[in-house]
Order: sequence, then C-alpha cells, then structure tokens
Amino acid sequence: MMQGYGRERWATRIGLILAMAGNAVGLGNFLRFPVQAAENGGGAFMIPYIIAFLIIGIPLMWIEWAIGRYGGAQGHGTTPAIFYLLWKNKLSKVVGVFGLWIPLVVIIYYVYIESWTLGFAIKFLLNLVPQPPTEVEDTKDYLKPFEDFLISYKGSGEELIIPSLYAYVVFLITMVINVGILIRGVSKGIEAFAKIAMPTLFILAVVLVVRVFLLETPNGTALEGLNFLWKPDISRLTDPGVWIAASGQIFFTLSLGFGAIITYASYVRKNQDITLSGLTAASLNETAEVVLGGSLAIPAAVAFFGVANAIAIAKEGAFDLGFISLPAIFVNMTAGNFLGFLWFFLLFFAGLTSSIALMQPLIAFFEDEFGLSRRSSVLITAGIVFFSAHLVIFLRGSLDEMDFWAGTIGVVFFGLLEMIIFLWIFGGQRAWEEINRGGIIRVPKVYYYVMRYVTPIFLLVLLGAWGKEYIPKVIAETHWTVWVTRFYLIGLFLFLTLLVFIAERRRPKEALSE
Ligand code: TRP
Repeated sequence: MMQGYGRERWATRIGLILAMAGNAVGLGNFLRFPVQAAENGGGAFMIPYIIAFLIIGIPLMWIEWAIGRYGGAQGHGTTPAIFYLLWKNKLSKVVGVFGLWIPLVVIIYYVYIESWTLGFAIKFLLNLVPQPPTEVEDTKDYLKPFEDFLISYKGSGEELIIPSLYAYVVFLITMVINVGILIRGVSKGIEAFAKIAMPTLFILAVVLVVRVFLLETPNGTALEGLNFLWKPDISRLTDPGVWIAASGQIFFTLSLGFGAIITYASYVRKNQDITLSGLTAASLNETAEVVLGGSLAIPAAVAFFGVANAIAIAKEGAFDLGFISLPAIFVNMTAGNFLGFLWFFLLFFAGLTSSIALMQPLIAFFEDEFGLSRRSSVLITAGIVFFSAHLVIFLRGSLDEMDFWAGTIGVVFFGLLEMIIFLWIFGGQRAWEEINRGGIIRVPKVYYYVMRYVTPIFLLVLLGAWGKEYIPKVIAETHWTVWVTRFYLIGLFLFLTLLVFIAERRRPKEALSE
C-alpha cells in the first residue's frame, strides 16, 4: 500500500519536540494556570495538579502520539479517519468528528484572545498605555485605568460587544500571521517557526521572572507569592472542585483531548521514537507552566497587592490578572512600558505556536480526505475560523460558552473515548506495542494498567462530578446570546459530519480496499 507516501514529515527531532512543546505551551500556561491555582487555594491546587499530570497527562500524551503516528503512516491525520482504522464501525467516524469540532471551536475564541495580546504588545511598544494614578486609596482605584483599557478593547455592552476598530484590525493581522505560517506547511512553516519562537519565549519568560523576583513593596514580596503557591494544603484535598479544576488544567495546558497532538503526531515517521519525545514535550510544557508561569502573575500580584487582594483579582476571571494587574504593576517600574511589551509579546508568541496547532487538524482533514492543496486547505480553514470568530467578537457570553463545551467538558469526554477506542477496541496489547515501537525509552509497565484502568475510571468519575456541578447551571441559562452560540456549535458539528461523509464518497477505491 502506498498510502501516506508523500505526506509531509517533521524535518528534525528537535524541531518536532519544539513544535509539540509550542503546541502545548500557550496562553494557558501564563494566564489560565495562575488563575486556576489562585482560585483553588494555591498549595491546595498543586497536589491534585501533579497527580493529574501523572495519571492523565503523561499516559494520554503517549496515547495521542501513538494514535497520530499510526494514522499518519496510513495517510490520515485526523480522528474521523483514524478512529475508523482502529475500530471498523461507522460510529467511529461520527465520534471522530469531535476531533475536528473541538479544535475548531477552541481556535475560534483562542485566536481572538491571542490577538488581544498582540494589540496590547503594540500599545506598550508605542507608549500608548494609561499610566496609573499616583495618589490612590486602594487597589481598585489603582487598577481602574487598566480596567478601562481592557474594556476599550473588548467592549462593555450587556449583549452586544462593540470592540474598537483597533481591536478588529489587530485581529485581522493576527489571522494573517497565522495563515502566513501555516501556508508554508509542516516543516517549513510550523517547525521552522517553533525553532525560533520557543527559545525566544523561554528567554523572555526568564527575564520577566528575574524582574518579578526583585519586586518588593510594603504589601508583600514575590517570595510570599511563591510560598502561597507551593505550601501544600492537605485540608482541601477532599474538595472535588479542586480536583476538577486541576484535571481540567492538565487537559488544557497539554492540549490533550483536542485532536491537535494527534494531527501533529501524524507527521512523525512510522518507526521514529515517540516515548521519549512525547515525555520531553510534556516536560517542557510543565516547566513553562509551573516554573515560569507560576513565577510571574501570582508572585507579581502578591508582591504588589498582598495575598488577599491577589486572590480577589484572580477570582474576577481569567483575564484580569494578565491583562489588568500585570500591566498595572509593570508600568510602575523603571522601563515599565518595555516590560509590559515583553510580557504581551511573550503571551503572543505562546499563543501563536498554539493557535497554528489548533488550526492544523482541519487543514490536515481537507488535505488528507479531500485531496486539496495545502494552500486551499489553509485558506478554507482560515475562512471558517474568521467567519465564526465574529460570534465571539460581537456576542457577550459566546466565548465562555465555547470554552465550556469544547475546551472544558468536550476534551475530557474525547480523551476518554480515545482511551477506550485505542486500549480496549483496538486492543491493549496492540496499543502497547504501537506506543513502544521505535521508542528510545520503554514506557514502564505500570502505565499499561494506568492507561487501561486507572485513567479511564478517573475520567469517568470526573465527568460525573463535572456534570453534577455544571449541567444544572447550563440548563438554567436563558440568555439569547448563549443560545445563538449553542445552535451555531451544533451547526458546526453537523457541517463537519457532513464533510466526513462526503469525503468518504470521494474516495471510493480506498473504501473498497479496506
Ligand atoms: N495548550 C494550550 C495552552 O496552554 C491551549 C490549547 C488547548 C491548545 N488545546 C490546544 C493549543 C490544542 C493547541 C492545540 O494555552
């Protein structure tokens, strides 16, 4: 069988690892992680987080690399087709549609937030940011100018959001940059960019961490922030909410359950190592998250506002810490605008290496299953994303709704499906051999049992707890903007399902030979 011949491949191992690390290292590491940790009690959060990394993160990472490499060797990079290779049942294709739908829905809002980071970076570089008042009563007054700044950016309406023209133009620029990288392809575009962006990102983060560690105000020091994050708090381990949050963060930060790692892995050569490479990429992400991500927003906010205020800010939502507090802190320092620029530029690079990864599954789908050229595939995908993003840009609540269904619940559900299809339907022994084939290290045997039993059961419990906590809230939602978003998301799913079945009819020969 000559299938898969001529499919693109990663050029170098280091390039592959950096691209995979770039896939995982994103806004989640620097914005979502600190907020989750602060909201869930700092030290109370880190224990479930580390456990979730060991029993969800690492095993699922190997599984997704293995599924992707297996599919890629037969010419397929997305789950509708790959699940069908693993499980000869029509249902597998429908289930596989989730592996296209999830990254598509997430990219629709992710790329918009990414564009804010670029917008802020440019403003800081050009000295166009507000300066904090010199005489202030409390934290609230101090943050006010920056709050207004964020609002001027993301609008303030109850239902309709009217962003500034600047915000819209920067969004267009962000889309063009993404397309510019993707259109060059896997090794010349994604891999080449990751080789520049990842080292840059680590250097920027280290510079900022050093600066933050030197912070000291009458309210506190950066060390107190680290202490808050790293002092274990056993008493909250019985709170299911903390476990849910920690596991959710592991999925999000490692990009697991999104279909995106699978697509990247489909460009790995058939007998090339995935055990050590997968572990390395995951470890790089965790370093970026707990060492660098954990040493920026929280320590800075604690040093500047004190522990209690920092927690209160984090509770305001995912964006306030990164887009309001940190800039407010930076502008108060020497060369503050430049530091602010570095911070947002760091976020932009982190976001960019992730957004291209989120876009690649749909691109690969058009290339592999419809035989379209890369150029057409990229442009069609970008067109769909650009069109859909208007929902997020103009409708209040749309972003959160998408994040909930695709980025929060969807990924756990999909991760569980991957494990069942690979380790139970395809077969435990076959899956185990597939993971270890060509491996530089052998995966410890305990992970066989973890993958087959521990993780799936853990995920089931998680889904149950999740459902109990959130489904009633979701059903109670009556706002029309949310319902418009939901119908749109269902429409997207049906549209993708339709494409999958059209694609199948376009490849009659292959279908016969299967
Ligand atoms: N891991 C990315 C982050 O930390 C976000 C993300 C989630 C992602 N799922 C993804 C990126 C899938 C690429 C592909 O921000």
